[in-house]
Amino acid sequence: MSQRSIRPRRLRSSPAMRRLVAETRLHPADLVLPMFVREGATGPEPIGSMPGVVQHSLDSLKGAINQAAEAGIGGVMLFGVPLEKDATGSGATDPDGILNLATRVAVEEAGGALVVQTDLCLDEFTDHGHCGVLDAAGRVDNEATLERYREMALVQAASGSHILGLSGMMDGQTAVVREALEGAGFVDTAILAYAAKYASAYYGPFREAVNSSLVGDRRTYQMDAANRREGSLEVELDIIEGADIVMVKPAGSYLDVLADVAATSTVPVWAYQVSGEYAMIEAAAANGWIDRERAIDESVLAIKRAGAEVVLTYWALELAERLRLS
Ligand code: PBG
Repeated sequence: MSQRSIRPRRLRSSPAMRRLVAETRLHPADLVLPMFVREGATGPEPIGSMPGVVQHSLDSLKGAINQAAEAGIGGVMLFGVPLEKDATGSGATDPDGILNLATRVAVEEAGGALVVQTDLCLDEFTDHGHCGVLDAAGRVDNEATLERYREMALVQAASGSHILGLSGMMDGQTAVVREALEGAGFVDTAILAYAAKYASAYYGPFREAVNSSLVGDRRTYQMDAANRREGSLEVELDIIEGADIVMVKPAGSYLDVLADVAATSTVPVWAYQVSGEYAMIEAAAANGWIDRERAIDESVLAIKRAGAEVVLTYWALELAERLRLS
């Protein structure tokens, strides 16, 4: 075969041809929409740093979740924004706390059509803004935090959450939550372990979305951006501890970690395209510096190409609706 006969451009020659040979596709069912629900809100309230994303009231959540189900998206991930915060994040384990209320509303509205998932972490509920409780020296106390996660898991499962999203990065959290669920008979409640979660500047806009009170950073529990191999260790531990699904987060700047995990994981691999990834594209598009839709599609496609089977993205609804029209 002469070299001239090898022409990769052949398979790029028309839109139909490109569509046929595409190695990766987006589908509404592969998308999960993160949603914020704020205690005391009377309607959807915009989040300045995330144009297009809102903090829902319990009531506006209903319409939004039905819209998500109608668009065919795979699921939603709920975050609660309480009015009151304290040192132990007691709102997180109050059965009538905002996140647990929102879970019941979501499951009742659309729990048969999509998968309702909940953030299992204390940072939205603590007055210091950390993902765990603090010891006398002000450090995040791993073991004391696990006790809180155990309680939180049971309340969330009892509220009807289908998948618990363990995003706190405490050592042993997956094992503790699995044991608690089994012990209480919640054998069908799945665990999504935010296994390789990095301490990232890209969470910036999320802090506004949940009215975070964090001072300082999360570097003693979330991973260091410099480390790739450690991502595989975190995933391995979570699988051993009983994770049903593992996640890499953020997504776009960690595609190498994602590809590593996708190559070896024995459970599904998801990725979270976080608030900063969203805000950057929206901001550039608002300035006319980037083609908004193409940038969105490319950013999510890249995450799937690297190995994520499901992507959590704030564009889930828009993408799903666009995919159904195409
Ligand atoms: C922790 C949590 C965070 C995000 C999801 N779960 C914040 C953090 O770890 O600081 C960030 C998501 C985003 O930026 O979109 N509850």
